[in-house]
Amino acid sequence: KKLLLLDVDCGVDDAQAIMMALAAPNVEILGITCCHGNTTLENVCRNVLRVLQVCDRSEIPVYSGAQASLLGSPVEGACYHGKDGLGDSPDPNAPGLEHLQREHAVDAMLRIVNGRVGQISLVGTGPLTNLALAVKMDPSLPQKLKNLFIMGGNMESRGNDSICGEFNFSSDPEAAYIVLNEYTCPTYIATWEFTCRSQLPWTFVDEWMAQNSRKATFMKQIFSHSLEFTSACSNNPGEIYTGGFVACDCYAMAAAIDDSIICEVIKCGVSVELKGALTRGMMIMDMRDKLKKKNKALVMNAIDLEKYKTLMMAALK
Ligand code: BDR
Repeated sequence: KKLLLLDVDCGVDDAQAIMMALAAPNVEILGITCCHGNTTLENVCRNVLRVLQVCDRSEIPVYSGAQASLLGSPVEGACYHGKDGLGDSPDPNAPGLEHLQREHAVDAMLRIVNGRVGQISLVGTGPLTNLALAVKMDPSLPQKLKNLFIMGGNMESRGNDSICGEFNFSSDPEAAYIVLNEYTCPTYIATWEFTCRSQLPWTFVDEWMAQNSRKATFMKQIFSHSLEFTSACSNNPGEIYTGGFVACDCYAMAAAIDDSIICEVIKCGVSVELKGALTRGMMIMDMRDKLKKKNKALVMNAIDLEKYKTLMMAALK
């Protein structure tokens, strides 16, 4: 089985991605570490516990991690994900925070990876604060991973969060910088523009959520807020995601579950702008190798949409 460790800021698309991994028969999830991002750290932890409960997988250990970026600035993604991160449709029977593990997410990450050196794929679908802290505590960590899959950054300087920055990277640019500069395992990146260009038709969403299952009912509940937001944005000038369904985090997760889904990558050094007044948080692709970086990232450029749809469908079965 593929061994995955998930680092999430559980909003709606993280939930969709986690459900996809839970449904994959070839995958074992060793743990889920939580990070601030789409909502507060506390909500993120609650949301992960709730997703696991809906999927009857509460045995998977969940760890609480960084509550703010390395430099401490607060972020949130309420406009898309709702204030609580899951569409503001609370479940009174959702599990409480007492179900979290006591160990800190970063300690857990180091322990789990050190216990299975070379075997674990780490999937990061939130700001990279936990990963950056982990590599600072143990600089050899990246060599001990099999690979790293990240949803974040951009390839055409089209931001979603800021003018040029994608949400996960601009939420903690220093963390993204550390991870991209110090992680030396094969690193796959699903950028904002790539995910938008790989969108699925809305007819797929109707079919997806019409499945007769507890998971599909849950999805309808948590997803309606995001659907309203997306349709309200559909006439915004310059938006590239409004023509179809884009669950950003699911692309990185799908690649981790089945790397044969990746049809094309751009191999290059990447970094993150930390200073620019307009460009802070923007990922740059060093196409002419000016930075001479040893570790070249694998920036995803095309995926097999049919295989992707199958993984999405399975998530709600
Ligand atoms: C990313 O930001 C968040 O809103 C989503 O969960 C995704 O990880 C897209 O930019």
